[in-house]
Amino acid sequence: MTAIYGRGADFREGDAREVPADVAADSVALALLDPPHHRAAEPLFAWAAKWSARVLISGGSTILYTGHVRIGHDIQIFENAGLKFWWPLSMPLSPTRKLPGIFVVIGHLPVLWFVKGRRRTDAQRLMPDTLRSVRDKSQHLWGQGTAGVPQLIEYLTKPGELVAEPFAGTGGWARITIAAGRRWVGADIEVGGSTNILAGGKLIATRKRKTSRLVHERHKLLGETS
Ligand SMILES: C[S@@+](CC[C@H](N)C(=O)[O-])C[C@H]1O[C@@H](n2cnc3c(N)ncnc32)[C@H](O)[C@@H]1O
Repeated sequence: MTAIYGRGADFREGDAREVPADVAADSVALALLDPPHHRAAEPLFAWAAKWSARVLISGGSTILYTGHVRIGHDIQIFENAGLKFWWPLSMPLSPTRKLPGIFVVIGHLPVLWFVKGRRRTDAQRLMPDTLRSVRDKSQHLWGQGTAGVPQLIEYLTKPGELVAEPFAGTGGWARITIAAGRRWVGADIEVGGSTNILAGGKLIATRKRKTSRLVHERHKLLGETS
């Protein structure tokens, strides 16, 4: 456990596919998934789908921060793992970005909401599908800011319930979770997050020289211009 994740947070440093293996089946109310967005991270998406399907309580939710070009593929992966695609959420992007090759001005980032079984109705019922975010890249190149997490916690969980975040990065969402009176368990290959990807048994270091290429890749996948 380290302080940056908040007092009481259960942080495990290491590969998400190993260090939270002991999280019990049917114990998590909300899984927040923000894996690296790069084709090399594909095995992490498939793992995250199966893992969240196992650990979620009945009626619990998985929220996947993804890219425009991945939406169809992700729905398939997560539904194949046994979750139900519930609704597309969106995170407004300000300022908007132009993507000239696709002739689009991007005004939001896609976020996919999946449910295990039937959506629970004992937490709040009517969830707004627009996630307000205060963006913050100061701690981490891939940091998502608040990314609607306070809203997701309020609408999809109850006090004392468990929120899981296997790609925790800066720990900002852990601190929000703990402050809201929920429990938190999470992992990252590096305390505070990194621009590295550990997938398919290989560590792809993307720092320094390689960072700009990777950030460009992520922007491409997210449908953003760099
Ligand atoms: C998109 S970032 C998450 C950013 C986070 N939402 C935030 O706001 O800070 C993805 C994170 O996944 C981590 N990561 C990459 N491969 C991993 C693996 N196999 N297991 C756990 N974490 C991994 C990276 O270190 C990085 O911090």
